[in-house]
Amino acid sequence: MKIFLDTAETDVVRKHFKTGLIDGLTTNPSLIRKSGRKHEEVYQEFKDIGLNDISMEVIGNTENMISEGKRLSKKFGKVATIKVPCTVDGLLACKELAENNIRVNVTLIFSPDQAILAAKAGAAYVSPFVGRVDDNSFGGLCLIKDIANVYAKQNWTSTEILAASIRNVRDVGRAFEYGANICTIPTKV
Ligand code: E4P
Repeated sequence: MKIFLDTAETDVVRKHFKTGLIDGLTTNPSLIRKSGRKHEEVYQEFKDIGLNDISMEVIGNTENMISEGKRLSKKFGKVATIKVPCTVDGLLACKELAENNIRVNVTLIFSPDQAILAAKAGAAYVSPFVGRVDDNSFGGLCLIKDIANVYAKQNWTSTEILAASIRNVRDVGRAFEYGANICTIPTKV
């Protein structure tokens, strides 16, 4: 039952990290852009704060994601989790990175089928987007439950469910109840 922060605000993270309750962190290109800083500078500061699991999103085609993922992993070491989208390019990149012992977070998961493909591609984490699924009038928390059921029925333990796009406190408790292993939470929540 791990709690990650979903942010690129280093000052806020420093404050919350002191509680001893924070197990990791996720970022994305929009959050980095909002911080007004360079992504690697932000990752370095998070590493210096003491975070040992930082999701760093890569973009582009399969080759771009693989080369950037390997570079970030080399630069930041074991704290780097490479985050790729659940697209064909992203899944191919996931497979290659995972085969090189790089932890991969497959993001933008909207169905159990995507979670199955990501698991097969070697993902350490899948990130179902609870809030965005709710925005589109189907159940974000049900998605967590459905993925957890599939993994449990198949005795699949090598991929953890990281509930993302969390918009309120109630969803955090429910996501854990329904089988999420990790919730990544915006600091305001
Ligand atoms: C997760 O890793 C994403 O960064 C994040 O949860 C997306 O949330 P949003 O739907 O609020 O953009």
